[in-house]
Amino acid sequence: MPVPPPENPPFAAATNDLRVRRATVDDLAAVVELENASFAVERMSARQLRRHLDSASALIMVATAQRRLLGAAVLFLRSRSRVGRLYSIAVAAGARGRGIGEALLQAVERAAAKRGCDRLRLEVRVDNAGAQRLYERHGYHRFGLRRGYYEDGHDALRYEKPLA
Ligand SMILES: CC(C)(COP(=O)(O)OP(=O)(O)OC[C@H]1O[C@@H](n2cnc3c(N)ncnc32)[C@H](O)[C@@H]1OP(=O)(O)O)[C@@H](O)C(=O)NCCC(=O)NCCS
Repeated sequence: MPVPPPENPPFAAATNDLRVRRATVDDLAAVVELENASFAVERMSARQLRRHLDSASALIMVATAQRRLLGAAVLFLRSRSRVGRLYSIAVAAGARGRGIGEALLQAVERAAAKRGCDRLRLEVRVDNAGAQRLYERHGYHRFGLRRGYYEDGHDALRYEKPLA
């Protein structure tokens, strides 16, 4: 049965039964809605997300509580590389600041290590201080800058974390 998307306007999400798991096709509509609500550019389409669900080179994780989707993260893997790429992480606006981003990040790191990755890399907008704090608090260090990386011309900071 499809997982309903987060309510709009933002709701006081109960997160005491938070669960982080791999996404299924039933999560797809809610993940697309979350992507659209969270990102102005570089959004992934339903078709792209659908393809990634069945792909050996991608992993989509979702955080749910009371059968509502509260967050999602997309990880890319390459068969001949031990470097995983955290492509995106998003938490529903009404559910931020409660550790869901952290729970997703930890789940993605565990999944990447299980798939043979020894480090994770990601890009984050230079003006996204909240996400940068989340990454830095969890052991990611800045190692580069990509100028004009985003569709709207914004630069990206590059972060990396060695996995245990
Ligand atoms: C970045 C993002 C994923 C973080 O998700 P989140 O669920 O709010 O993250 P967390 O709750 O784990 O941590 C965020 C803050 O909440 C605080 N926090 C963590 N656990 C908490 C808890 N149990 N109760 C209250 N606050 C908590 C943290 O201290 C942190 O504070 P700070 O960053 O202001 O210092 C979310 O803000 C988001 O979706 N942003 C839009 C999309 C985006 O920019 N994604 C990243 C680029 S790909």
